[in-house]
Amino acid sequence: SVPAITDVLTGKHPVGEPITVQGWIRTRRDSKAGISFLAIHDGSCFDPIQAVVPNDLENYQDDVLKLTTGSSVKVTGTLVESQGKGQSFEIQATHVEVLGLVEDPDTYPMAAKRHSIEYLREQAHLRPRTNIGGAVTRVRNTLAQAVHRFMHEKGYYWISTPLITGSDCEGAGEMFRVSTLDLENLPRDDKGSIDYKEDFFGKETFLTVSGQLNVETYCCALSKVYTFGPTFRAENSNTSRHLAEFWMVEPEIAFADLGDAATLAEEMLRYVFKAVLDERADDMQFFQQRVDKTVIERLESVINSEFVRMDYTDAIEILQNCGKKFENPVSWGVDLNSEHERYLAEEHVGGPVVLQNYPKDIKSFYMRLNDDGKTVAAMDILAPGIGEIVGGSQREERLDVLDQRLEEMGLDKEDYGWYRDLRRYGTVPHSGFGLGFERLVAYATGIANVRDVIPFPRTPKSAAF
Ligand code: 4AD
Ligand code: MG
Repeated sequence: SVPAITDVLTGKHPVGEPITVQGWIRTRRDSKAGISFLAIHDGSCFDPIQAVVPNDLENYQDDVLKLTTGSSVKVTGTLVESQGKGQSFEIQATHVEVLGLVEDPDTYPMAAKRHSIEYLREQAHLRPRTNIGGAVTRVRNTLAQAVHRFMHEKGYYWISTPLITGSDCEGAGEMFRVSTLDLENLPRDDKGSIDYKEDFFGKETFLTVSGQLNVETYCCALSKVYTFGPTFRAENSNTSRHLAEFWMVEPEIAFADLGDAATLAEEMLRYVFKAVLDERADDMQFFQQRVDKTVIERLESVINSEFVRMDYTDAIEILQNCGKKFENPVSWGVDLNSEHERYLAEEHVGGPVVLQNYPKDIKSFYMRLNDDGKTVAAMDILAPGIGEIVGGSQREERLDVLDQRLEEMGLDKEDYGWYRDLRRYGTVPHSGFGLGFERLVAYATGIANVRDVIPFPRTPKSAAF
C-alpha cells in the first residue's frame, strides 16, 4: 500500500528502496538542466515531499509539464536522502501518473496569491488544501482525540446524547425546530393557524442546544460521564465567536462541587494544549509564524500556571474601577459581554480566568443557588483573545429549590419531569461544564474567528454546502 507522506518524511520508509506516493501538486519548478521538481502534499502533515523528475521520462512533455498547482498525481521512484536544504527525504521519480489535472490553471485560486481567510470560506474544494486549512484540520483532530483520551484516562464514560430533543437546556428559546410537517398540506385550525406542537410525529421537538440535561441522567448512575457532540443555537449572532452549529465537550461529575468542575476544566485545557504542542509541532510553527506570534507561548503559559479564580462580584468592582470606558458600562447584576471578558482575561489577569458565583437572574434554571440567595454556583472560564471558552456550574440537586427556580423563570415543571426525577430518587451533588470546541480550536491556533476552525461553518448568513 502507498505510505502517507508524513511517514515518509519522518523516516519510516527505507532509503534506497522503491516508493510510491499519491497526492496533489503544491508547486512545480523546472530547472534549466531539464529536471522538474514537484512538491506533493497529501494532507497527512504540513510539509510536502519533493519528487525530482528527469526529462527523459516517457510522458515528461505530455504529462509532467502539464502539472499545475492542485493537480493530483501518483509518483513512483526511489526514496533518497535529500541534497537540498529544508527537507530530509525526496523521491527520484521513475514514473509519474497524472490522476487529475486542474481544468483551468489560471483560475485555480491557489496558484498566484495568498487568499484571505474570508474568501476561503466560500471555496469548499480549496479550503482544506491550503496550508492554513490543512493545519487547522489536523490540530482540530488532535484536540478532539486528546479530549477523548483525557476523559478516558480520568475514568469518564462517553455518553451519546440526542440531537433531537423536547427540552430547552439553556431556557433561552434559541432552538431550531425539528419538523416532520408537510408544509404544503399543513393541518390548520379554524383560524387557519398551524399547530406547531404537532411538529415531530405529533410532538414538539428541537435541535439540542446542549447535551447537559441528558448527560446528567447518566452522571447520576455512572458517576463520571461526558458528552461530546454537535449542538445548535438559533441565535442571530454575527460575531467572531458564535456559530449556529458548534461542538461542545460536556463532562458531568457526581459527588462534585463547582471547584471540582473548574479544576477538571483546567486540567483538560492543559492536557489538550500539551498534546497539540507535542503532536502537531509542524502546524503550530505555521500558526506561530503566520497567524499569531505569541500562540505557542500562550499555550505554554496555560500548561504551566494555575488559573486565577475570581468572584463575579469582585470582577464587577474591578471593571467599574479600572478607568476604562466600556461600550456597555457594568453594574452588579448585568451579564458580561466580550469587551468585559476580554479586559479581565487580557489586561487584568493576563491569562485565563475562572469567573464564578454569578447573579442567579442572568444564569440558567439548573444552577445551584448559593446560600446568599442571590448568586448561583456557576463558572465561566474567560480566555485572552476570545472571552468565554467554558461555561459550567454546580447543579441544583434540591428538588424544592429547583422547582422554585423553574417557576421564577416561567418554565413548565411538567416539561422537566424526567429531569426532576433525578432529584426525587437518590439525588446527589453534581457539577459539570461545557467547553465550546471551536473556541478551543481558535484559542489553540490563534485564529480570530470560530468560522475558520470548523470544516463547514453554519451562521445566520451562511449554511451553503
Ligand atoms: O455557556 P453555555 O451556553 O453552557 C451550556 O450550554 C451548558 N449547558 C454547558 C454545561 O454546563 N454542560 O455554552 C458552553 C460553551 C460556551 O462557554 C462557549 O464556549 C460555547 O459553549 N458556545 C458557543 N460556541 C460557538 N458558538 C456559539 N453560538 C456558542 N454558544 C456557546
Ligand atoms: Mg455561557
